[in-house]
Amino acid sequence: MVDIRTAHTAQLDAGTLSRIRAMLDEAFAGSFDDHDWDHTLGGIHALVTDGDELIGHGAVVQRRLLHTGHAWRTGYVEGVAVRADRRREGHASAIMAALEDVIRGAYDLGALSASESAGKLYEGRGWLRWPGPTAVLTPTGIERTPDDDDSTFVLAVDGGAQLRAPAPLTCDWRDGDVW
Ligand SMILES: CC(C)(COP(=O)(O)OP(=O)(O)OC[C@H]1O[C@@H](n2cnc3c(N)ncnc32)[C@H](O)[C@@H]1OP(=O)(O)O)[C@@H](O)C(=O)NCCC(=O)NCCS
Repeated sequence: MVDIRTAHTAQLDAGTLSRIRAMLDEAFAGSFDDHDWDHTLGGIHALVTDGDELIGHGAVVQRRLLHTGHAWRTGYVEGVAVRADRRREGHASAIMAALEDVIRGAYDLGALSASESAGKLYEGRGWLRWPGPTAVLTPTGIERTPDDDDSTFVLAVDGGAQLRAPAPLTCDWRDGDVW
């Protein structure tokens, strides 16, 4: 039976975490690295299982996005993937619904960086392809991230961040891909 549950990283045992990592390595066909894994940890995971098998995963972690003079508390979505043989059954949509509940309940704003194939999935769920410029707050100042402009998506939250493109959206600093 297919089941979906959410849990904080701290509530997942080492075996479950290594199953998630293995599933992400396979689903992203070798393009998921240790930094990507690090970015996926420390927040709430949504796990889709069918019996004992893990068939889908996504996570939301807290970041700060600078926009219009505020450092908005942002639920940033990472590690969304469904096992290749179980795609187009609605599992990513179910994962996103669970993560969006977390975002709407706890954050001022949702954000993510979409792979080319996943853009439609997010747009269909009300996420907005960010129409303004993107940037990152590095240890030495703000730098533009033009390569990320087209792949950055945001989810507005009622009573949350006021999104005003073309004001830039600037993410906090981290190792690996900053968006
Ligand atoms: C992107 C990805 C997560 C989508 O997972 P998925 O479970 O297939 O997604 P869903 O089934 O919820 O939705 C995908 C499509 O299937 C359609 N669909 C959903 N249920 C369906 C069903 N029962 N029958 C047929 N199609 C269905 C959806 O309408 C959607 O259509 P779209 O292509 O027009 O958007 C998956 O392809 C994947 O893991 N890709 C590799 C990793 C990756 O790129 N992750 C995204 C990182 S940003």
